Amino acid sequence: MKNNKKPWAGRFEKQTQPQVEKFTESVSFDWRLYRHDIQGSIAHSTMLAACGLISKKDGDSIVKALKEIQKEIESGRFKFSEKLEDVHMNVEAALIRKVGEAGKKLHTARSRNDQVAVDMRLWCRDEIRSIVGSTAALQHELVLKAGEYAGTIIPGFTHLQHAQPVLLSHYLLAYVEMLERDKSRLEDCSERLNESPLGSCALAGTTLPIDPSMTARLLGFKSVCANSVDAASDRDFCIEFAAALSILSMHMSRLAEEWILWSTEEFGFLELDESLCTGSSIMPQKKNPDVLELVRAKSARVYGGLVTLFTLMKALPLSYNRDMQEDKVAVFDMSSTVSASLEVLRLVVSNAGFNVDKIKSSCEKGHLDATALAEYLVQKGMPFRQAHEVVGKIVREAIRAGKALTAFSVDELKKFSRLIDDDVYGVLGVENCIKRYKGSGSTSPATVKKRLTFWKNRLKGRLKSS
Ligand code: ARG
Repeated sequence: MKNNKKPWAGRFEKQTQPQVEKFTESVSFDWRLYRHDIQGSIAHSTMLAACGLISKKDGDSIVKALKEIQKEIESGRFKFSEKLEDVHMNVEAALIRKVGEAGKKLHTARSRNDQVAVDMRLWCRDEIRSIVGSTAALQHELVLKAGEYAGTIIPGFTHLQHAQPVLLSHYLLAYVEMLERDKSRLEDCSERLNESPLGSCALAGTTLPIDPSMTARLLGFKSVCANSVDAASDRDFCIEFAAALSILSMHMSRLAEEWILWSTEEFGFLELDESLCTGSSIMPQKKNPDVLELVRAKSARVYGGLVTLFTLMKALPLSYNRDMQEDKVAVFDMSSTVSASLEVLRLVVSNAGFNVDKIKSSCEKGHLDATALAEYLVQKGMPFRQAHEVVGKIVREAIRAGKALTAFSVDELKKFSRLIDDDVYGVLGVENCIKRYKGSGSTSPATVKKRLTFWKNRLKGRLKSS
């Protein structure tokens, strides 16, 4: 192809060096924007026709041809060319091939700068909807699992050491709460990015009589960006999306890490379904949690994308700079990585089985009821600091004797504090602890049950609409 065939070739005499074409092209990755690019172009040409900038006839033939191009791309018949740089110029060139002169009018009052900005906003908006849906699906599985093991008590951990007894359902619902905030961060981002940059053109707007509010309306944006320089040159919405994805990945990595530990021989709390595990090429007995390890690992890749975007945008002078073309590499990769992680994690959760006997015997270790005993003394009138000290001594003796707190006689306990009576046996032991927890947000059976019902109802509605 001669340079004079490139859409911007008017002021050029020389051919572009092939290395430059190779280096500057983005169609190898931004082809993924084709649907949104065409959606934006259809709205744009509809607006141009409505404003009398192109004829109704030209407008109609552009729209018809764009729809054909979309079908060709979707059926794999379309040939993207690196010489045409990016998805925008590939689609436009195909349009001109199809409808000739009319096709040359589509880029009236538009620049690739506002075009790519609109494509990315539309793409992120759709992607957020889909990721929010997948996150809700993962939450739903966690809620079902929590319901399945409603009565199971596990040792709660701090510092990965036995701390206090907790309902397993409460632990699982903790992730549901985290994921809810992740969804809400993504939705906030979608809400904020939902403004149309079309009409900003290269950076300044246009002298032509266009109607940006019409394209905004046609594309479902809530308004038009108020400043053309800002609209054409900021990618804060990509960074915000990336940040929300990073936090979501961080949450997934914690669940993955925890379940990797729980499925070890040492813990034995959890049995991962065989169909979701992998084996070893040398050790015949192995059943490895590779899926969870990769969910854990992929969070690193997602953070990498966030750092790429921050670094890419840092100190870029206004307005558009070609640097911004690279944003897509990170955004696309992060989004597909997170979607894939959500999907496999959902499968892992829905197929997981807890080993309640092993969990029960673990609950007998580590004096999980020590804090409850201290609180018992508080209720008998002892200041908490003193109660902490007294129970510390009892625990020390328990460790020395190798026994649980429930194994002490009242007389033995009385030696540590005369406030201890027979009623202490209504306090000691993990079942008693669980029964006695109070307050909203605690692991009390009533609170957890209420929250479980809340999530079941909420997600049922959400899953239907997504
Ligand atoms: N492929 C470009 C990008 O992703 C489109 C915008 C190009 N604009 C330009 N003035 N060269 O950023």
